[in-house]
Amino acid sequence: MAQTIVIFGASGDLTSRKLIPALYSLFKKDKLTETLRIVGVSRSPFEHEEYRDSLRETTEKFTGSLFDSESWNAFAENLYYEPGDINEAKDFTELATFLKKIENGDKAGRLYYLSTMPQLYEKAIEQLGNAGLADDSDGFRRVIIEKPFGTDLATAEALNASIHRVFREDQIYRIDHYLGKETVQNIFALRFANSIFEPIWNRNYVDHVQITVAEEVVIGRRAGYYDKAGILRDMFQNHLLQLMMITAMEPPARYDASLVRDEKVKVLHSVRKMSGGDFASNTVRGQYKGYLQEEGVPPGSQTETYAALKLYCDNWRWKGVPFYLRSGKGMSCRTTQIVIQFRQAPHILFGHKTRTPVGNRLVIQVQPAEGIQLHFEAKVPESEMKTRTSTLDFDFNQAASGGMPDAYQRLLLDALLGDASLFARSDEVELAWGIVDPIDAAWRSPAAPPLFPYEVGLWGPPESNDWMAAQRREWFDVC
Ligand code: BG6
Repeated sequence: MAQTIVIFGASGDLTSRKLIPALYSLFKKDKLTETLRIVGVSRSPFEHEEYRDSLRETTEKFTGSLFDSESWNAFAENLYYEPGDINEAKDFTELATFLKKIENGDKAGRLYYLSTMPQLYEKAIEQLGNAGLADDSDGFRRVIIEKPFGTDLATAEALNASIHRVFREDQIYRIDHYLGKETVQNIFALRFANSIFEPIWNRNYVDHVQITVAEEVVIGRRAGYYDKAGILRDMFQNHLLQLMMITAMEPPARYDASLVRDEKVKVLHSVRKMSGGDFASNTVRGQYKGYLQEEGVPPGSQTETYAALKLYCDNWRWKGVPFYLRSGKGMSCRTTQIVIQFRQAPHILFGHKTRTPVGNRLVIQVQPAEGIQLHFEAKVPESEMKTRTSTLDFDFNQAASGGMPDAYQRLLLDALLGDASLFARSDEVELAWGIVDPIDAAWRSPAAPPLFPYEVGLWGPPESNDWMAAQRREWFDVC
C-alpha cells in the first residue's frame, strides 16, 4: 500500500537535520515502499521545488558519502510542501484535499509526524481529528510525537487524554530517540539472546548499576527551553529511565510491542518513591560554572545541568541493588554507558593491599565508542600472584557494515511498519513523570539540597564523587 508521511514543523531543525536525512538514507537502502510520499507542513510560504532545494544541502551534509545527486532527485520527486498553520482549521481541510490529490485518490497509510513546538501538539491532534485525517478506513493513520511529552505528570496525563480523544493508543508513537540507537537495542540481544548473563543478572551477583549520559556540550542557545526543564526533565524522565528499564526488565514472552512495554512498565512500578531525607541522601545536583552567563538564562537560576540519582527497584530481581543514574552537560567528554558492577569475589586470595580490584564489570558503551567490554581480573605475567584488570572488548562498529545508522532511521521505519516496541506507551511516560516529579519538587522547595557548581570539562561536581566514595563506590569514567 502507498504511504504518506506528513511532517508538521517542516521548516524546523529536526526535519532538516534528522528526519529528511533519515528518510533519504532509508530510500537509498531500499527500505521504503516505492510509493512513499513526504509532505512538509509549516507556516512559511514555500513552493515544492524551493522546499526540496532547501533540504538538499542539509541532507548532503548529514548523510555524507551516502549522498548522490541522482538518488536525491529521485527521492525529492516525492517530497512536497503544503503551507499550513496548526491553529487554522481551514488549513487542515486544505491539507486533506492536497493529500487526496497527491495520493491520486488511492488508499494510503499515513504517518503524521509532530515536530512542532510542544505547545502545539494538542491543537494539531484536535485539528487532524476535526478534518477527518485520523479516520483509518482507507489505510493506517498513525501519529509520531516528539519529546518532551508534557512537562510533568499532570500535563502528560492531559496530553494523553487529548490524543486519545482522536487516536487509539496503537496509533500513537511517542519518540524517545535513545530507543532508536542500535546499541540500546543490542541490550535486548545481549540479555535475551544469550543464556550466560541471565543467571547473574540479579541481586545475588550485581553490586550496583551505573547509567551515565555525559555530554560535552553546554546549553548553547537553548536557555528558553532548558532553564525551565533542567536535566531531570530533559534527560532523566525519558532517556535515562529508558536505559534503566531495558537493563532491569524481565524477559518478555515475545519480542512484541505490548509485551516488551508491559515488562518495561513493571520496572517503573517497582522504583521506590523517594520521600523525606531521601532527596538529600539519594540525589546530587549541580550547575556548570558559566551557566548563569548563557544567553537567556535568568539571573540566579537554580536550574540543574548535572544530576545523579540513586534509585532502587523493589522487586525480586533487584531488591537492594542501587541503580545510579547520572547525566551532565559540560562534562569532559560525550559518552553514554551502562556499567553492571558485579560483586567482588567472596574471599580474596591475592591480597589487594593497595587497591580495590575493579574487575567483575560489564560495560555497555551506548555511544560514541559503541561496544561492550567485560573487565575482569587476570594475573600479571611473571608476578608471584598479582592481578590486574584486563578487558574483553567487542566493537559494535566493526560489526556494522557502513557505519551505525542514525536512531531516526530505525524509528521512522518501525512507525511505518506499525511496530511500536521502540516507542513509549502512555502508562510508561506517566509513570516516568511520577518518578521525576517528586524529585523536581524537592529540588525546587526551600529545603532543596545544595546546587553544586562545577567546572566545564570535568566530571560534574566533585561532591558527586564524594557521594559515591561515602558509599564505598566510584563512578566509572571512560574519557
Ligand atoms: C535530547 C535533549 O533529548 O537529547 C538534549 O533534549 C540532549 O539536551 C540530547 O543533548 C542528547 O542526545 P544524543 O543522541 O546526542 O545523546
